[in-house]
This record gives sequence, structure tokens and C-alpha cells, in this order.
Amino acid sequence: MVKNYEEKIKDLLDKMTVEEKAGQLRQCGPSLVGAFEVSFEELLNMMFDGRISQEEFGRLMSTAKQDFREEDLRAGRIGSYNGIKDARTVNRLQKIAVEETRLGIPLLFGYDVIHGYRTIYPIPLAESCAWEPDLWERTGRMAAREATAAGVHMTFAPMVDVAKDARWGRVSEGAGEDTYVNCCYGESKVKGFQGDDLTKEDAMAACVKHFAGYGAGEAGRDYNRVDMSMQRFYEEYLPPYKACIDAGARAIMPAFNDLWGVPCSVNPWLLMDVLRKDWGFDGLTVSDSNAIAECVDHGIAKDRSDAAVQAIYAGMDLDMSSDVYHENLVQLVHEGKVPVDVLDRAVADVLRLKFELGLFDHPYKTSAEREAQTLLTKENRSLAREAAVKSMVLLKNEGHILPLTPGTKIGVVGSLAKERAEMLGAWAIGAEGEDCVSLVDALEERKQPFEYFENVQDALDFDGVIIAAVGERKDMSGEAASRACIELPKDQEEILKALAGAGKTVVAVLLNGRPLAMPWTAQNIPAILEAWHPGVEGGNAIADILFGDENPGGHLTVTFPGASGQCPMYYAHINTGRPGGRGKFTSKYLDAPIEPVYPFGYGLSYTEFEYGDLKVTPSGDSLEICVTVRNAGKRTGSTVIQCYFRDLVAKRVRPVKQLADFAKVTLEPGEYVQVAFSLEYSRLGYYDMAMNYVLEDGDFEIFVGQNSQDCLSETVTLTF
Ligand code: NOJ
Repeated sequence: MVKNYEEKIKDLLDKMTVEEKAGQLRQCGPSLVGAFEVSFEELLNMMFDGRISQEEFGRLMSTAKQDFREEDLRAGRIGSYNGIKDARTVNRLQKIAVEETRLGIPLLFGYDVIHGYRTIYPIPLAESCAWEPDLWERTGRMAAREATAAGVHMTFAPMVDVAKDARWGRVSEGAGEDTYVNCCYGESKVKGFQGDDLTKEDAMAACVKHFAGYGAGEAGRDYNRVDMSMQRFYEEYLPPYKACIDAGARAIMPAFNDLWGVPCSVNPWLLMDVLRKDWGFDGLTVSDSNAIAECVDHGIAKDRSDAAVQAIYAGMDLDMSSDVYHENLVQLVHEGKVPVDVLDRAVADVLRLKFELGLFDHPYKTSAEREAQTLLTKENRSLAREAAVKSMVLLKNEGHILPLTPGTKIGVVGSLAKERAEMLGAWAIGAEGEDCVSLVDALEERKQPFEYFENVQDALDFDGVIIAAVGERKDMSGEAASRACIELPKDQEEILKALAGAGKTVVAVLLNGRPLAMPWTAQNIPAILEAWHPGVEGGNAIADILFGDENPGGHLTVTFPGASGQCPMYYAHINTGRPGGRGKFTSKYLDAPIEPVYPFGYGLSYTEFEYGDLKVTPSGDSLEICVTVRNAGKRTGSTVIQCYFRDLVAKRVRPVKQLADFAKVTLEPGEYVQVAFSLEYSRLGYYDMAMNYVLEDGDFEIFVGQNSQDCLSETVTLTF
């Protein structure tokens, strides 16, 4: 239950000067200006274009002297920091805010805790493939315990940008292509991060991002324009943000992109009408990094001062890293261009969150001792391992090569099997590469005899099973890491081709941050495990699955296309008037199939599941759906039972399938279970041309199965 702090906020606002108010809206990162001979941006570029290694970059960063702008802090000109990663520094700065500023308003510390703080668990895309809300919440809780111990009050997560285009690098940071999966994932993360009481020392506010539609950037290019029908926006893209707000998220980050030509950072319709009026949100809006200033580059503001006016009017509260508010707001208020009540509304949102986090009563929510005891514990590592195992998806297992039987002679190729830091994936800024267990480490730890080949040519005479760890390096996905061609990188595919060409028995372990287009691999390599970027315990989790200590149960939350040119490719497409088929004049390609290589929802197990007895019964205001699922194989295993529907005839074209619900079950060999879904009629509607949400009587097809293509189905006629 969120307490009401409005009186206290008003009292404070009455005491604050305009300068102090503007200070509350300023979020700074530690400045590295002057720390190197080149600018920080140039240093980053040097790393990206290979002039210095990542290690060298890391070393320079860790030895650089950071400037926290303490004079500004003392003068009440800073309300928040981001990117500070230790309890001691956090407490030192907090002490200045509380003891040395005129009003003693505590600071708010934000950080990108995306898939763990120090104990990195699988990237969000991977974790979503576990289809397990309870796991998503538990890892969120662990991340909050660690991050808050290091002094973090708010995480810039979860990212619930529905991502249907695998070219977009940030597909790795969210829960995939489906709206409903993103809703469930977002809700669980908000609960996990925030816990049941924000004032507790281990609770961290969730800043949901990127509001809105950031995942739909044209051509999969990061930061690109987003333009779609209002119907699609409301049906497919908005619900996950709303689900997070309904779950109690206390902050939200407007996206970099423009929507219908208006950047989200200065979009009053989005930030005021939708977010605050329609959804009743009274939390904090936090700009994306430098996003307010970028309104000048968008060509929507004539200068930084204009950007400040537009942003504050639109409802943007906290300015992350651009200093546009800091430089302009005071003068704008004095000139009468920004009324004080407009400023106050934004400041109130910052103060409210500080009150809700209990910072006025307990500004020091951590200590260096707590930090030392909390990070990377055995218990946290074990949860990261569980999450990694559950995230992995067995894509192919011809001839039951996997699990490897004891005594199998094993060879390993691929640098990704060795490079610890590559396990982390995008956004693991609180972690160290050395925290990770690589596949090679895991094999050594298990005392599993194996031979590692630096060079694939040396493996061609090996007469055992070869595990080839191939995929994308971690900086090939994440922010600013879109790829026009999402094929397996050439050097990686060449490893597989050399092995297959020499007739080797190959198990491909894929480490990557997005769906890959790899038709050759899918055809020619007999066993493929999608391990994603699995986090600190990745190597152990891979070994657990390869050797059969664990049975893989992950299912894809994204479609794997066969060619980059098929992007965006997703299961919930529309039928068109000429559905793709053999005829000439149908919706298809001349040079690529229209089918995916692996469909949404797909995933194998070391056992097999049979589905039967689908029953669909209308009852009151819902459909009761029941199916029997049996473990028909010889091993205990888990599967994800997916329930979809299709509105067969409607006044607007509807997707060929929409996920309605899912359930995960674990069954012993021979065991069966009846799984029931209750699908409320209100879920079956859509937005008509006038943007009214309507339920239309008629026929609906209900599907239940273990992936979006392999389903039982039944049609019912409904009258609402
Ligand atoms: C830019 C990214 O878009 C956003 O997701 C992140 O939270 C901020 N930078 C802060 O690092």
C-alpha cells in the first residue's frame, strides 16, 4: 500500500527555491571529463572499433578518477545520480546531500540492473524462455537484494518493449515478441525488484522502459522512428507497460524514439493523457540518457532551452544526463516561460518516490559491510544456475545424441567455450567477466575428460563428439547493436561447416542475444542447444544439460527466421487475402520460405509429451479450456502448455493466433495431468476503427499445444 505523502511534499515545495527545485530534476552520472587524454566518447569508440581491447577499456575506467560534481551537490543542484557502483561512494554522497545541503533532501541512486547486479543471470530474452513467472520474480528479488546492498534505489528495468524484429539489438533485453509474455514477465520483475514494501532496505523501485513502442523501430535499427496504427499500438505494444504500472512500478522511462513524429520524451499525449490521466500513474518519469537534449537532433526543439520547455510541459520529470533542465529551468521560470506549478508537478514526483523509498527517514539504506556480504553468494549463484538451465532451449536432438552418455569422448571448439566474460551478455555493468564459469571451466570442475581445440582444423581428426560453442559475441546485441544480417557470424558458421564437412558428430551450443537465421545449421548439425548469454553460471548450466543432470524445458519467446530478409517475423501475423502458399500470387518470397526455422513457443526435451482431450466450454463470462498432457517418454521433464485463440471473422483482420495463457508443468515418466485455463471473454476483443474496444459475436478457434504451430484446436461460437 503506497502511503500518502502529499502534505509533506507540499511543505517541502513551499521551502524550496527555484534553483533547488531544478536541482531535484537533475540526474548525473559520474563525470570522467579530463580523466583520459581523449574524451570518454572517443574512448568508447576506440573500444568499439578495436583500437583498444575491452580489457584495456575496463582498466582505464577503473583507474579513472570520477568527478561527482560535489560543489553542485552541496548547492542543492543535483537530486539524483546514476551509474555509481559502490556503497561507500553512495553513502559519502548521500551524507553531503543530507548534512550539507540547505534542506537535506536525500539523493536517489539509479542503475541499470537488467539481469542481475553482480550475480548475472541470463539475459532477459533467455530468461523469458523459461516461461516461469515465479522464477522471473525470484531472480528480480535477488537482483534487488544485491543492487540495494551496493546503494541502488531504482533500477532502469524491466524493459517490456515488444520486439518482433530480430535485427534490433535490444531484443536481448526484453521478453521477446509476444505482448502477453511481456506483460507477465514485466509484472513479475516489478514485484521482484520492489518487494512488498519500498521502504525496506532490499527494495528497489522499478523504472519500466522504454515507453513506448521502442521495440518497433523501423527496420530494426536502434533509435529509429516508430509509426504504426493506433489499433496495433494499443493491442500489441502498450499492454506490457500498463501491466507493470498496474503491478505497482513507481517509475517509467520514456523511449528515445519518436511516435507518429513526436519524440516520447516530449510527448504530452503519451506522458500526460495515456500515462497519468488514463492509467492514473503518479510515479516518476525518468528521461532516457541525454534524450531531452536529443530533441534538438530530432528537429523538434530549436535549442536546448526549447527542449527543456517542451519536456517539462509534456510531463518529463527527471533529466538523465543531458543537463538541459539544469542549464535552463531557472531562467525559464524567471522569464515566465515555465510556470512554477509546472515545475512543482515534476519535482513532486521526484520527492514522492524519495518518500516512498523511505529515504527521508533512512537515507543510508546500505553499508559497505552489507555490500560485501550480499554480492555473488553461493545461494545467488545457485539461483543463477537454475535460471540458466531453465532458459536454455533444445532446438534439435537428432538420434538422441543428447544427453551425452557417460564415457563419451568429448572435444570442444569455439572461443566462446572459454571466454568467461562472453557469458554475461549485454548490460552486466555491475559484474566482472571473471565471475563467470565458462563451459571449459565447468568441464574441468566436473573432472570431465575433454580435449579443447583452439583451431577447428585440429579437431577434424578427433573421433568423439565435438561440442562447438558458437554464436554472437556479447557486444553484438544490446543497445546500439542492431544487425542488418542476423545470420550466424561467418567465422562461427565456418567452424560448424568444417566439422560437418569432416563428418564429425557435432553438438552446437549457441551463445547469442537474439534469434539467429541459421537454416544451414538447423539442417546439418544434429544437436543444437540454444544457451543464449546465460550469465555467471552459464558454463555449469550448459554442462548440466549436455550431460543430462538437467532436462531442458525452455521454449522460445521469439521466432527464429530462416533469413534476415524475413524480419520482422512473428507468429501473431495476419492471414492476408492471399496467404502464402504454392500459387504464384500469394504472400511469400521468391528466394526464402515464409515459414520460420523454429516457431514461437518451440522447445524440445529429453522426454516427449502427448496432448489430448481438448475441451472448450463456454461458462458465464469466460471460456473454460481443459487439456490432458502426458509425459510419454522415459525421463522426468517440464513443458510449457500454450493456449492461443483466433477470432475467425471480425470487422478488422485479426492475427492467425494470439497467446492467451500458458502453464508450465513437470511430469514424471508416464504421469499425466489435466491443465485448465480460464479465458475471460474480455480478452477476446479488439479495437475497432473508432478505437473502441469491442467484443464481436462469432466463431473463435482455441488452440492448445507445445508451440505456436503444433496445437490441438476446437472452434466455439460465442455470443457476448
Ligand atoms: C540508455 C538506455 O536506452 C537505457 O535503457 C538505459 O537505462 C540508460 N541508457 C541508462 O544507462
